[in-house]
Amino acid sequence: MAERGEVKKVTPPTHLEGEITLPGDKSISHRAVIFNGLASGQAEVSNFAPGRDCLSTVNCLRNMGVKIQRKGTPPSSHLLISGTSGEFQEAQNVLNAGNSATTMRLLAGLLSGQPVLSIITGDSSLCSRPMGRLVEPLHLMGARIWGRSNNSLAPLVIKGGPLQGIDFELNVPSAQVKSAILLAGLQARGETILHQRALSRDHSERFLQQMGAMITTQGKSISLSPLSHPLTPLDLKIPGDISSAAYFMVAGAIHPHARITLRNCGTNPTRTGIIDALEAMGARIKRENERIEGNEPLADISVETSELKGIDIGGDAIPLLIDEIPALAVAGCMARGKTTIRDAGELRVKESDRIANISLELTRMGAEIEELPDGMIIHGGKLLTGTEVESHGDHRIAMSLAIAGLVARGETIISQAGVVEISYPSFWQSLHSISHRERTASYAGKGA
Ligand code: S3P
Repeated sequence: MAERGEVKKVTPPTHLEGEITLPGDKSISHRAVIFNGLASGQAEVSNFAPGRDCLSTVNCLRNMGVKIQRKGTPPSSHLLISGTSGEFQEAQNVLNAGNSATTMRLLAGLLSGQPVLSIITGDSSLCSRPMGRLVEPLHLMGARIWGRSNNSLAPLVIKGGPLQGIDFELNVPSAQVKSAILLAGLQARGETILHQRALSRDHSERFLQQMGAMITTQGKSISLSPLSHPLTPLDLKIPGDISSAAYFMVAGAIHPHARITLRNCGTNPTRTGIIDALEAMGARIKRENERIEGNEPLADISVETSELKGIDIGGDAIPLLIDEIPALAVAGCMARGKTTIRDAGELRVKESDRIANISLELTRMGAEIEELPDGMIIHGGKLLTGTEVESHGDHRIAMSLAIAGLVARGETIISQAGVVEISYPSFWQSLHSISHRERTASYAGKGA
């Protein structure tokens, strides 16, 4: 297993060409085990995300009495999940969500309605991320949940019990908070109605629709009735993670000789903001073989060397690409003109302060970036030069810097690079597999 402290060196290849098999989508994988854990009966889930975050969810659920087996030889991504019909066991020990806010927040919603005592903790990054946004609506539902620092930080302590539905406006466009409230709402008395100011990823709503819950969505509002019978298990093949694909979309667009194909990539419209943004910048991206599997759309995506220009992005577009903004910043560095990213203050409370960290590290490489409280202004077209940079223990910063290294002069040395294991353990192998060092390819990239 790679150490998170591992150092990786990236030098620019002469061309980028090939196909990448993406890991399963992280957000959908968390939900596949949580919602099937609530169901009555067994579900088969394939292409489960291999990263540590989803493993944290699996471990927590196992400690709560959900039977989860790997089918086939390790490291199989095929799981058999036996649901609890909605009755979870009290965990013998503290539940550890590691680096994963999705694990912590969704399980907090679920455990608020279970008649057991639970304590959920995480690593130092997770224990410094905001939990008040979650605790507040759960309190309104009658949950007994406490956290450090006046209920604003983990570890969280939950004494589950009866809940009532709420009619609530989500101030933060967070799919994690929304999903936590829905998990609590399934176990509450009376209807739960949520009003979103902006759409966030809707995987939970899709799972609930497919598994027999009474849920309706209208525009940005969601109504959910409590469960009158356990959820029906859902077999599914998880689509490839568009958040992992984003690094290669940017790499393909900015490298002068590139043609990359990303097979079976999830294209849920609440996640495709990165494709829209890159297309607006002029990226040559094609979607082929578009289809629906389970209740989620997917496609094969190909990207080629492109001439990018700067864009302005903000408002409701932000939640649709929130995790991809560090990669988008790299695209902005290589674009002609100015790229302005606003309304993205949420990035400051992710696994690290992503506005500060990506701005700092890309600036070390020669980029010109002005940090804003809620985003950044990137003055594109500056030559990047490889140097020593840091991931700040954040998987998305590590992968974005690796992509910047593909177009920088010289060697980019990334410390704490093993952190990619959080979401994409085979990232370095994928990158290696498409990086070629001689001009023999039959592609049609710029200047080829
Ligand atoms: C996620 C939602 C987003 C995202 C995170 C995964 C999810 O967080 O950044 O990586 O699976 O629900 P927020 O809901 O806090 O915006």
